[in-house]
Amino acid sequence: MREMLENICKQALDSIAEAKQSNDLEAIRVKYLGKKGQLTQILRGMGKLSPEERPVMGQLANQVRGDIESALSSRVKEMEEMTLAKRLREETIDVTLPGKRPPLGGLHPLTTVLNQVTDVFLGMGFSVAEGPEVELDYYNFEALNMPRNHPARDTQDTFYINENILLRTHTSPTQIRVMEKQNPPIKIIVPGRVYRSDAVDATHSPIFHQLEGLVVDKNITMGDLKGVLDVFAKRMFGEKTRTRFRPHHFPFTEPSAEMDVSCVTCGGSGCRVCSNTGWIEILGAGMVHPTVLEYGNIDPNRYSGFAFGMGLDRVVNQIYGIDDIRLLYENDIRFLSQF
Ligand code: DAH
Repeated sequence: MREMLENICKQALDSIAEAKQSNDLEAIRVKYLGKKGQLTQILRGMGKLSPEERPVMGQLANQVRGDIESALSSRVKEMEEMTLAKRLREETIDVTLPGKRPPLGGLHPLTTVLNQVTDVFLGMGFSVAEGPEVELDYYNFEALNMPRNHPARDTQDTFYINENILLRTHTSPTQIRVMEKQNPPIKIIVPGRVYRSDAVDATHSPIFHQLEGLVVDKNITMGDLKGVLDVFAKRMFGEKTRTRFRPHHFPFTEPSAEMDVSCVTCGGSGCRVCSNTGWIEILGAGMVHPTVLEYGNIDPNRYSGFAFGMGLDRVVNQIYGIDDIRLLYENDIRFLSQF
């Protein structure tokens, strides 16, 4: 019996040492220590031994069981440790790898230029006013000296919402809204989106941006207008920039003018961008018409003023050398990510 016990012990310990996975260990435990296991069988047969042998064999059997049990549990522990070590090895993260950066947005060129233009005028003491994009016919046309059926309305193809409400065709209506609320001196700029029912092409978009200016005070003259706009052009396009004013007509100013700046691309010698003229038209301006001052509840006998309106999209295109206004509105990331 001693020999049997020793054999069982040896076999069990060998197979524990060879076991590859925890399933194997469980099978070994059942095989030797289970209810029908080999060691259990032997212990059952103890009764047949002589009284002298019984305690000796009993002690040996218990020792064998103890050896097998402790071999099993230390092997289980070893396997757990190996599994953990393997997982740790396989799941290590290389913290030195660069992360995935979420793409960072940037300012739209229109916003960048608007910020620059605004800065220039804030520097000259202007403040920013805003008006609604859905506007009354009254402010968009009538109070700007363009009554119903006035031919000048035809130059601004308008999106009407109903007979009295429309999408503003320019930022000029805000002139009236500000004058109604504020007494002179007034010195404001009005940036904003405007709408016209134009067919889309390289220079026309049904939505575009303007920046309006209005100055009303005592003794404002055409000289103030020219001085402010000349300073603006130099700050914006460079100190060498020259300006020229050409007579024009707007119903809401008298006299009226358009201002050109010397071409940013060629400096005035003539190129493709300025159609070889050396000049780029960037805004309309003039002395506020007395009728318009009256619509704004301002006495034209005491006050005078000048106003201007520029197309921001044109300024953007000049600065960046963009030749198609549609690019500003298509939201093509390949275009926008260049800024
Ligand atoms: N509102 C005019 C337009 O959209 C631009 C303009 C011209 C605005 C002369 C003015 C101005 O304030 O004085 O064509």
